[in-house]
Amino acid sequence: MQLIDGKQTAADIKQEIALAVSLMVQEGKKRPHLAAVLVGHDGGSETYVANKVKDCETVGFQSTLIRFEDNVTEEELLAKVDELNQDENVDGFIVQLPLPRHISENKVIEAIDPKKDVDGFHPINLGRMMLGMPAFVSATPAGIIELISRYNIETAGKHCVVIGRSNIVGRPVSILLSQKAKPGNCTVTVCHSRTPNIADITRQADILIAAIGSPGFVKADMVKDGAVVIDVGTTRLPSDKTKTGYKLHGDVLFDEVAPKCSYITPVPGGVGPMTIVSLLKNTLLAGRKEIY
Ligand code: GUN
Repeated sequence: MQLIDGKQTAADIKQEIALAVSLMVQEGKKRPHLAAVLVGHDGGSETYVANKVKDCETVGFQSTLIRFEDNVTEEELLAKVDELNQDENVDGFIVQLPLPRHISENKVIEAIDPKKDVDGFHPINLGRMMLGMPAFVSATPAGIIELISRYNIETAGKHCVVIGRSNIVGRPVSILLSQKAKPGNCTVTVCHSRTPNIADITRQADILIAAIGSPGFVKADMVKDGAVVIDVGTTRLPSDKTKTGYKLHGDVLFDEVAPKCSYITPVPGGVGPMTIVSLLKNTLLAGRKEIY
């Protein structure tokens, strides 16, 4: 069994991005600029956004954090999105999800200029990705593809089973892995909450991607010997053993599943650290105007 070290891979990629930024600056170009909009005080969102801003600084980007209270109106948020769309100094921006219930996430996502949608959530980017056109690909699917690629894991002709059909992970990663590309060329099955006998299907997977946010859902008897297992789950559960007061739990029961695998991602330290570098990579692409 080989551990897929997302933390190290993410650190390597951050160095590559930092080098690319220093070359841009040497050439007299402006540093890429990422703006992040955060609404409210959700603990998870606060941590994610703080890490995104910190990592921007690490690689030499400019970053701006824009905060709103929970009671911000949809109109106010849409006005800010419009302002960021127009701001020539901002290359890309994200609106951290989830948003309060009185605000339509779809409306906000659709208001973002696809050219600045470094989250890759806009229907235009999802559509372009599906068609195999240049597009911003959302961070978690892009991070999974990058790990598979950097670990030289063969995907062509393999059966990939994805558990979960979310718009930001399950569905896009299933499309990417079925594309005529490298990595790609998989036969992909997507399982979800209405799939009967899930274990019968997951046991057929050469590559198993678990993205449902259900801690320990994937057990050893659901995994074929020699499978590649990618765990996207990051459920925060209270813990009195950690400084932060919580612990991250994956969708895979790591201790019993790992011995059966050829490769497996741990939680934390697997897919998680890759998501932020994917966002940074998209911001670099936006700064260099490489997609649009
Ligand atoms: N909430 C959870 N993950 C993400 C993400 O990748 N982007 C945004 N904007 N919100 C999120």
